[in-house]
Order: sequence, then structure tokens, then C-alpha cells
Amino acid sequence: MLRTHTCGELRTAHIGQPVTLCGWVQKTRDKGSLLWVDLRDRYGITQLFVEEADNKSLAAEVRNLGREFVIAATGTVIERQSKNPKIPTGDIEIRIEKLQILNPAKLPPFLIEDETDGGDDLRMKYRYLDLRRNVVRQNLELRHRMAKAVRDYMDSQGFLEVETPVLIKSTPEGARDFVVPSRIHAGEFYALPQSPQTFKQLLMVSGFDRYFQIVKCFRDEDLRADRQPEFTQIDCEMSFVQQEDILNMFEGLVRHLFKAVKNVELPTLTRMTYDYAMENYGSDKPDIRFEMKFKYLTDLAKGKGFQVFDASETVVGIVAEGCAEYTRKQVDELTEFVKKPQIGAKGLVYVQCKADGTFKSSVDKFFDNEALKGWASSMGAKAGDLLLILSGETHKTRKQLNELRLEMGNRLGLRKKDEYAAHWVIDFALLEFDEESNRFHAMHHPFTSPKPDDLHKLNSTDHEVLGSIRANAYDMVINGVEVGGGSIRIHDRAVQSQMFKLLGFSEEEAKAQFGFLLDAFEYGAPPHGGLAFGFDRLCSLFGGSDSIRDFIAFPKNNAGKDVMIDSPSPISEGQLKELHIKL
Ligand code: AMO
Repeated sequence: MLRTHTCGELRTAHIGQPVTLCGWVQKTRDKGSLLWVDLRDRYGITQLFVEEADNKSLAAEVRNLGREFVIAATGTVIERQSKNPKIPTGDIEIRIEKLQILNPAKLPPFLIEDETDGGDDLRMKYRYLDLRRNVVRQNLELRHRMAKAVRDYMDSQGFLEVETPVLIKSTPEGARDFVVPSRIHAGEFYALPQSPQTFKQLLMVSGFDRYFQIVKCFRDEDLRADRQPEFTQIDCEMSFVQQEDILNMFEGLVRHLFKAVKNVELPTLTRMTYDYAMENYGSDKPDIRFEMKFKYLTDLAKGKGFQVFDASETVVGIVAEGCAEYTRKQVDELTEFVKKPQIGAKGLVYVQCKADGTFKSSVDKFFDNEALKGWASSMGAKAGDLLLILSGETHKTRKQLNELRLEMGNRLGLRKKDEYAAHWVIDFALLEFDEESNRFHAMHHPFTSPKPDDLHKLNSTDHEVLGSIRANAYDMVINGVEVGGGSIRIHDRAVQSQMFKLLGFSEEEAKAQFGFLLDAFEYGAPPHGGLAFGFDRLCSLFGGSDSIRDFIAFPKNNAGKDVMIDSPSPISEGQLKELHIKL
């Protein structure tokens, strides 16, 4: 080893010891006769010290050090004159006797400190320098601890980690595939897996019984703060289980993670059906750190001459507690918020429930005090509260009100980062009709099984019947983030074939795409089910951040590019020819 200790290790107990430290020069201070260097490595910062009177040439060497030079310093641990209680090594410093520059460094393009002057683009271009910063490194340390805790738990429960291939076959369901052209097979392509779904099911047919994998997945979809084109799943599958067994097993995993990584006792996970979530929160991933459930006013508010409500399928609102005194400006801000194109509401109706028992609303012309009082009481509001009401087509209006509910949660400080509310959303629909393509899509994926009681409905041609089929499919939601999802699978060839048919596959297409799975189901497929967690999302949730990018060592930027290595990038004519893309 070039060093005897790390830069985070030395304490007063080491005083008098000869040591050698290696690291990066964070900064130097020159007080004329006395010089200091802050030496940094992954473990911390240790102060080095030289007195010019003791060693003139060494002092000159220190004066030549620049930021981020890599050095080795040998000397003796001494007690500091002025101690620094802010860092663990703050009681000591190293009186150096020898200095070796292991590698000089150019001046970095931004400050490598917690508070940096580097913008997003610059830090992404020099990600290897950004990773030297404590905040970024700590995120990856958290990720490592999470992965370790996952493996400990899964191993303790008898799961085997099995690797599945990365060059697989393109399938039409789900997001778009990233594809890789084959050189040997002209005109043919591999696809990168959107998830190892079919492979883990095959492993169940092989008798592996309990499988997991921390695995890269690839989806060519639009990026968001919680979406990357390549991301990591904790992918899991079990045989001979029912939904209840899976929910218990993976509630156990998440509770273990909270305990092992954050020392938090996560309360038992509550459950709600998909229908309940949509009706009460307008979202299939409601943030239940706060109540503010939807209250329906359709019956009370329609037919009273207010055109907007009269033309609406649904009138629904939320109660913002204690917000009756919002100013005009604040209410206007909320109106602007719901009218943003991403949200798309036409307007917002508000009712202020004044302390003196009167009501002031944006629809006073149509509704008198008595009517508004009726609304407030039906919504469970009290004096001092503000009612915020939207109207329109049911599904759309619910989605819009969901956004407003979350915004109010933020404004009222009800979404605290260090508070965790985890729950399951269950009983998703099996199929979802897509107007655009005029056909049914699988709500989760085509391998999800209907609930046994709904199995007979698979043969129906009635859209309403098909739309009413429920699946044993479930999502885990923490603080409004979908951290994972899965289902009990079909393990019967006939049912799987029927499912493909419903999804618009001809028999030939189903055979060409998924023949291997259909065949496998004829060789003794056990009943099975599983789920996958978004590992990056779990890490960002544990780290208190909204962006998964911060927890990925080398992420893509908002445009799906890696600006450090400049990818994607063109390839040579020769390569294009070899891959049969250009003749
Ligand atoms: P699903 O598609 O729901 O299920 O994905 C599982 C979890 O993966 C995370 N996730 C993502 N994270 C970051 N970036 C993305 N682009 C991204 N897409 C998904 C989410 C999500 O809950 N094979 C099934 C699982 C199963 O049925 O067992 C699947 O992939 O947190």
C-alpha cells in the first residue's frame, strides 16, 4: 500500500505515530511561515501542516501544489492548535516531512466541494469529478448499502440470484425496445430487455422456485426525473404462491431495507384497490402521507344553472385545511397551476369558508350562501378551510385534481421527506382499452393472470365485460412513488394463448414472439408470480431526492445522452456496412 491510513481515519489516539496519507489536494493555505493542505479521499479530509522554518524546500513544494493534485504525504500525527469540531479528524493534523506528487492536475472546471459552482451540464460532462464530491459519493454509498441489504434479505429467504441475458428478442408489448443489429445474421436484431420477465418465468418452469436479480433494464421511452432509459430493477419471482404470499414476502424486504439502511421501523403496509385509489386520489400511486381525499359534489352542484358544472360528468374537490384566507394572488396561482398544459384543467372553482360562517366563492353568482354551506358540510370542511373544485370528464378531472392535491400537499408542507407512508395498490384491471389503436392493452403485462373468479370472462367479446376483468396485480407505492409492481402469472398455455388473442396477436404472431414461453407451459409450469422494484427509485426515495439520476454513477441527461462519453454517437461507414445497415 502507498498509504498507512485513509484521510478519514486519524484521531488523537494516533498522536505521535508516523503515517503516510494519499489523496487529492482540496485546498492549500499559506500564512507565510505556516502552510496547510487539506488532503481529501473517499473517507474524509485530513489537514497537513508544514512550518517554513523547519523545512524550507518542503514549504516550497507545498506552495507548488494545485487543487486536485494527487499526492502522498509522510509525517507524524500531532495535536492541532485550533481544533475543527466539524470534521472527525479535526483534533489532529500531520506535520509532514516528505511530499510526493503522484500526479499533478489541471484546474477542475468547477469547485469540488459540497456547494459547487458547476451547473448541471458541466457536472455531467465531468461526472468523474462530480463523483468526487461528498454529496454525490454518499448517494452511491447508499446505493451500495441498499444492494447489500437486498441481497442479505433475499439470501436469507432462500432466493437465488440468477443472471439472464442482455441480448434478447424484440417484443411488441410495453415501451419501445433498444435494438442491436446482428453482424452475423444480416437484417436481424437483438433487443435489450425491458425487464427479464419471460426469463424469470422460464426459471420457474425450470424449478428454481425463488429467483431474484439486481438487473439492468432498458426502455426507449421519454425521460423524466424518475425515468432513465437504462435503469435497475430488483427483479423477483416465486413458485407455488398466491398474491398474499408475495405481498408479505416483499413487504418484508422493504421493511428490512428501512431497518438496515435507515434504522426506520416502517409501519405495516396498508392496502387499497385500484378503483379506490382512482376515486379518492385520482392516481394509482397516491401519496398517503396526507389525507385530503376527493369529495364529490356532482349531485349537489349540477343542475343549478352554472353551465360549466351542468356540462360536466363529475364535479369533485378537495378541502385545503386552514387556507380560507388565501389571497387573490394565491388563488390565481392555483388556477394558473391547474391550467398549465401538462395538467389541462379549464379553470378552478374555489370556496372560502370564512371564520364568521359565511362563504365567498368564485361562483357566487350561481350559488348562494346556503348552497355553499351544503357543499362545505358534504365535503367535511370547517370554518377556515378552502374548497378547491374541478369539473369535467371523470377520469381527466380526477387526474387534474390529483396534481392539485399534490401541489397543495407541497404548499402546506404535508409531504415531508423523512416521513414514509408505504402501501399496496391491488386489484388492477387486467386490460385497458386504448382508443387510439382501438384495441385492448395489458394493464401490467400480457403474462398477468386474471383473478380466478374472472377467468371465464376472457372468452367474452363484450368490451365492458373485458374491461371489468380484475387481475392479481399489485404495485407498491411509497410517498406517491411507484417503487415496484408485479402480478400472479398465467401458467396455462390455453389461457396465455387466449390472452395474446385478446391483445390482438394472431396465432402465428403469438407463436413467433412467445412460442418459447407457450411451449414451456406444456412441460410442467408451476403456479408462480412475482414483482420487480425500481432500484434507482428506491435509492432516491431513501436518499430524500426526487431525481434518480443522483443515484446512478453515470446517468443519461434529460435528452437521453451521456455527454461525458458522447453517446449515442454516429458509427463508421465500415461498421454500418458490417452490420448490414448500409449496403
Ligand atoms: P414494471 O414495468 O412495473 O414491471 O417495472 C417495475 C418497476 O421498475 C421501475 N421502473 C423504472 N425505473 C426507472 N426508470 C424507468 N424507465 C423505469 N421503468 C420502470 C418502477 C416500476 O415499478 N416485469 C415487470 C415486473 C413483474 O411483473 O414482476 C416489470 O418490469 O419502479
